[in-house]
Parts: sequence; C-alpha cells; structure tokens
Amino acid sequence: MPITSAPGKIILFGEHAVVYGQPAVALAVDLRLKCRIYFSEDFLVNGWKISRSINPYISAAIDKVWRGPPLSIYTESSIPSGSGLGSSAAVSVALTAGLMHMRGGFTEREVAELAFEVESEVQGRASPIDTSVSSHGYGIFIDRKKGEDFLWMIERDTLRWYIHHIPIEKMTFVIGYTGIHAPTGPLVEKVRTKVERDEAARTIIEEIGSISEEGLRALRCGDTVKLGDLMNRNHELLSSLGVSSNALEKLVRASRPYAYGAKLTGAGGGGSMIALTDTPDRVCDAIKSAGGEPIIARAGAEGVRIEQI
Ligand code: MEV
Repeated sequence: MPITSAPGKIILFGEHAVVYGQPAVALAVDLRLKCRIYFSEDFLVNGWKISRSINPYISAAIDKVWRGPPLSIYTESSIPSGSGLGSSAAVSVALTAGLMHMRGGFTEREVAELAFEVESEVQGRASPIDTSVSSHGYGIFIDRKKGEDFLWMIERDTLRWYIHHIPIEKMTFVIGYTGIHAPTGPLVEKVRTKVERDEAARTIIEEIGSISEEGLRALRCGDTVKLGDLMNRNHELLSSLGVSSNALEKLVRASRPYAYGAKLTGAGGGGSMIALTDTPDRVCDAIKSAGGEPIIARAGAEGVRIEQI
C-alpha cells in the first residue's frame, strides 16, 4: 500500500489577492506531511472512524477520487495545522496522489487540479496556490497569462490561474508561528466583503499583484534587499485589508531589526509570519521573546512524491 508525502508552503507574495486572479509567489518548504493508505474493514483515519467534520479534507478527497473498498489512512505531519503553512493542502495533495496511484497513477497537474477541488469544496472560495505549490514543489509563480516556465492552468468561474515553475536557489526563512489556529475560509470571506464594498480594498488587491510581479523579478536575480523591502510593503497592505493580528504584528516587528523583511504568510488572522534573514538565530530569539514559535525552513523543497509503494 502506498506511502506518499507532500510539502507545506510559504506564500512570499500575493496571498488573498491571488483569490481574485492577481499574481502571487509561493515556495514549498521542507516541512512535510506523510500519508499511508491500507485496505480495511471500514473507513478510518489514524485508527478512528472517519468523520466529515473532523476530517473534512480526507472525506472530500475520498469522495472525489476513490471508488473502491474501505481504507484506513494514517497521516503524520511536521506542518502545524491551521498555521498558514499549507497543512490542509498537503493532506489533500498527498492523499489524492496516494489514491490515484492505487487507481493506476498520477501526474502533478492531475493531483493539483483534484486537490484544488477538494480544498474549494471544504473551504469555499479559494485559489489553487496552496495545492499547486504542494504538488509541484520548488517555487511557483501564478499569473493571469501564460509565460516562461509554464506548468498548467486552472480555471474556475471567470478566473484563470496560470501556474509557472520558479527556478529558485534553496533559501532559508525563519517562520514565526503565533500558535493561533486560524482557518482560511472565514479570512477569505472577510476580505471578500471588503473587496465587494470598498474601492480602496480593490486597489490594495491590485497593488499586491504588482508587488508579486516585482518580487518575481527580485527572486530571479537574487536581490535579497529588494525582496525584503517588497515583503514589508506586502505586509502593510495585508494589514490594511484587516487580515493581520496583534500576535502577527508583534512577531513581524520583533524580527525586522535582524531581517531584510518580514510579513505574515498565508491567510493571516493568527497562523504564521516569515522573515528573510542572514542571521536566523537572532530572528529565532526575537520571535521567541515576542511569544512566537520559531521554525527554520528551507524553501525549494520537492513536491508530491511516492515514498514507498
Ligand atoms: C492561503 O494560504 C492563501 C489565501 O490566498 C487563500 C487562497 O489563495 O486560497 C489566503
């Protein structure tokens, strides 16, 4: 029976704006979720009877992909759940890949498409950023049009997301986890209400899109100072959208003296922030003193893979 794994992610630029089709940059990190699948008498998750409310992503993936007998699924993860680091995308991706493998095989693109359907069903409005980066790994750039290093396109309603590979060097980030579990769906809804009512919010969404484009250029030429500056600007725009929190602000402020830049990553609310730095130990200390949990993460990790058949 297969064991598959998929990475967590950080969003370097463009969270929330990507839901409206704006460009964004996400990087896979070396935190992984592993998924083991066995045939069984009943549908079980980590030894317990499956429950749609406790295991929404697993239930949705089984509904979408599996047509066979009951399965027992075990997950094991170094990605804290509800941390903004893509734990739900990683479970959707790793399980979808495992189930497709049992049905004959998968490609990264097929897994990304199906796992996006799983996420959207559970979460409501979403973009394919988390599921695509977890499938492909390394780094991805999402754009409104097809460009260099194009991987695949995902569409929903009137929106089209063109996913591209980013050939990045391995980079080290310090993640600061607030310890506050923040589900993505309600934060995406909060932004939607603002965007529908408020012209200023729509302008912020577009400005974030421009930052992602500039960020991609800085990433391609390894301009760390520029990247840090853009991260700071992206964070201020996300704060104006109302998705930061006191805990996140504290960690971002504490990190900045020792970092090129720092911003919240993922949906916000609680979850995590990231800092780009040459002195990770100093940033880790600053995050600890400000009440957060530091995690040193290497970006550019491999995407979904079969660990064992
Ligand atoms: C969550 O990791 C990223 C958001 O942009 C939501 C999404 O794109 O689905 C906040």
